[in-house]
Amino acid sequence: MSKPHVSGDAATFWEQHYAKMTKPSGGRPSAILARFADGRSARHALDLGCARGDDAIWLAKRGWTVTGVDVADAALSAAREAAGKAGVASRVKYERHDLGASFPQGTFDLVTAMFLHSPVAFDRTAVLRRAAAAVAPNGLLLIGAHGSRAPWSWAARDTVYPTAQDELTELKLDPSAWRALFLGPIEREATGPNGQKAIVVDNVVAIERNMLSGRN
Ligand SMILES: C[S@@+](CC[C@H](N)C(=O)[O-])C[C@H]1O[C@@H](n2cnc3c(N)ncnc32)[C@H](O)[C@@H]1O
Repeated sequence: MSKPHVSGDAATFWEQHYAKMTKPSGGRPSAILARFADGRSARHALDLGCARGDDAIWLAKRGWTVTGVDVADAALSAAREAAGKAGVASRVKYERHDLGASFPQGTFDLVTAMFLHSPVAFDRTAVLRRAAAAVAPNGLLLIGAHGSRAPWSWAARDTVYPTAQDELTELKLDPSAWRALFLGPIEREATGPNGQKAIVVDNVVAIERNMLSGRN
């Protein structure tokens, strides 16, 4: 993955990022979330790096109660407003955390980390291990990560992206505690900040915690 190239703290970078956004969010869920969460029993979900709330709203509309987490207050304010407009405010709550420093309480039937990438240094592996620990028995850990560089990306041109298997191996989870639903690349058409289109690759880790396992 690309090396972090912005110094300072995550909150400052991401607040500035969202302050520059003049257009409302597209309101569409991540294709990965729609593919892997659709049809699951709607219970409690945790969305790490929830941005302006599109995934959380999609889940809440399907009956989930959702905790969305982001480091940027600007994103969370927009997410709260969007949940209100969508009529799902009672099923979504948002918490501000710098996930490098703190993590929400509780366990969840679905924990998602969609493109939890940042040009500011943070220990992504430690955060994803903490995410795994927050998955309830029979719950799903769903990680979507860039597998190729979109033309508009802030990542360096020579970025080498870990495969889904690399990402899972890095987490050092107990193989007897988890079963893989899907591990690999998926292609999709992505839309850039100015409406430009490109085919990109996403790497997906979709693993379920075994019923009797409380271990990572
Ligand atoms: C690349 S965006 C992805 C947003 C969204 N999940 C999506 O799929 O479009 C990364 C998100 O993670 C948040 N983020 C980055 N670093 C973070 C950190 N250390 N703690 C919490 N959130 C963070 C950012 O504010 C941003 O909303």
